[in-house]
Amino acid sequence: MNNLKQTVPKMKAIVQYEYGSPDVLKLEEVDRPVIFDKGVLVKVRGAAVHAGDWHLMRGKPFFIRFIYGGLGKPQTQILGCDVAGVVEAVGRDVTQFQPGDVVFGDLSESGFGAFAEYVCAPETAFAIAPSDLSFEEAATVPVSALTALQGLRDVGQIQPGYKVLINGASGGVGSFAVQIAKAFGAEVTAVCSEGKIEMVKSIGADYVWDYTQVKSKLKQHYYDLILDNAAYNSPFNYFPFLKTPGTYVAVGGSMGRLFQAMFLDFVTTKIGGRKIKCLVCKPNQSDLIVLKDMIEAGKIRPYVDRVYPLGEVPAAINQLEQRQVRGKVAISIDG
Ligand SMILES: NC(=O)c1ccc[n+]([C@@H]2O[C@H](COP(=O)([O-])OP(=O)(O)OC[C@H]3O[C@@H](n4cnc5c(N)ncnc54)[C@H](OP(=O)(O)O)[C@@H]3O)[C@@H](O)[C@H]2O)c1
Repeated sequence: MNNLKQTVPKMKAIVQYEYGSPDVLKLEEVDRPVIFDKGVLVKVRGAAVHAGDWHLMRGKPFFIRFIYGGLGKPQTQILGCDVAGVVEAVGRDVTQFQPGDVVFGDLSESGFGAFAEYVCAPETAFAIAPSDLSFEEAATVPVSALTALQGLRDVGQIQPGYKVLINGASGGVGSFAVQIAKAFGAEVTAVCSEGKIEMVKSIGADYVWDYTQVKSKLKQHYYDLILDNAAYNSPFNYFPFLKTPGTYVAVGGSMGRLFQAMFLDFVTTKIGGRKIKCLVCKPNQSDLIVLKDMIEAGKIRPYVDRVYPLGEVPAAINQLEQRQVRGKVAISIDG
């Protein structure tokens, strides 16, 4: 009889077995992920909190339970889609990475799992991390900056000289969008809450107004492109400010407004000469490399509000949910 029992290596992770407030998140010892042929096992050093994390934590809006599985209780037990770390091992079919590589990645289509000491995901989820960022800074980039990039470049078709309006400019997506739009040679007007105006100015916006000043300060028929990270109003409310032709892109906000923009995007190409679009960001390895190059060229830089240790992920998510974050909050996983 073979007495040598194979022990599965353990790791610390933030797990959730039910939907609810940040109290449902627990720091526990769980099995380390097992590497697969096309998988890269990463020792996580930094993670970041994203709006999607608190939606998945709460299971709200309800339809996300259909998308990510787990109608009554979550199927995804370890959250976290933004990650940076060091490659520990690679599966036998992996061609792009080797142990020791410093990577960052977007796990939103790879099963999540960044709030843990190790994660394993397909190699296409990762890229070599920007050289001059800490792990925590690098981890704040993937989802938010990919969203900003794809919203401005792919959906918004940004051009040098464009007048761009970014609504919800103080959060994760907005803080990257301001910088990416400037890097494309646009003039940027940003809108955020009053207490965050100085922060948004500090990352390069040309004009910054708070939400209450939108009607009085924004110029009529002036903006070529509006990126709306806080779509809580009808897209038609922005038409007086949009040029003809011009494009409104809904990124985040209330479900009703996002569905409205998605519906209009689907059924029409233009309304009164202007486009209404709704962004669905996709993880994309080549876009991660675009962002790495922009960071290394000094064109964009993450704005990190605060770094929490792994055990304080619930506090980090709470800070984000309470709209108390400037830019991003990061998680440090002790090396
Ligand atoms: N379409 C996609 O593929 C995609 C991808 C990623 C994210 N998103 C969505 O895009 C949105 C922005 O993401 P993010 O990571 O930038 O979020 P975030 O870091 O939480 O920032 C939220 C931004 O929206 C503003 N805001 C205005 N009114 C708000 C309200 N009533 N409730 C909450 N925020 C409000 C905030 O302004 P102040 O902080 O100045 O108050 C802040 O600038 C979220 O809804 C997210 O779910 C969509």
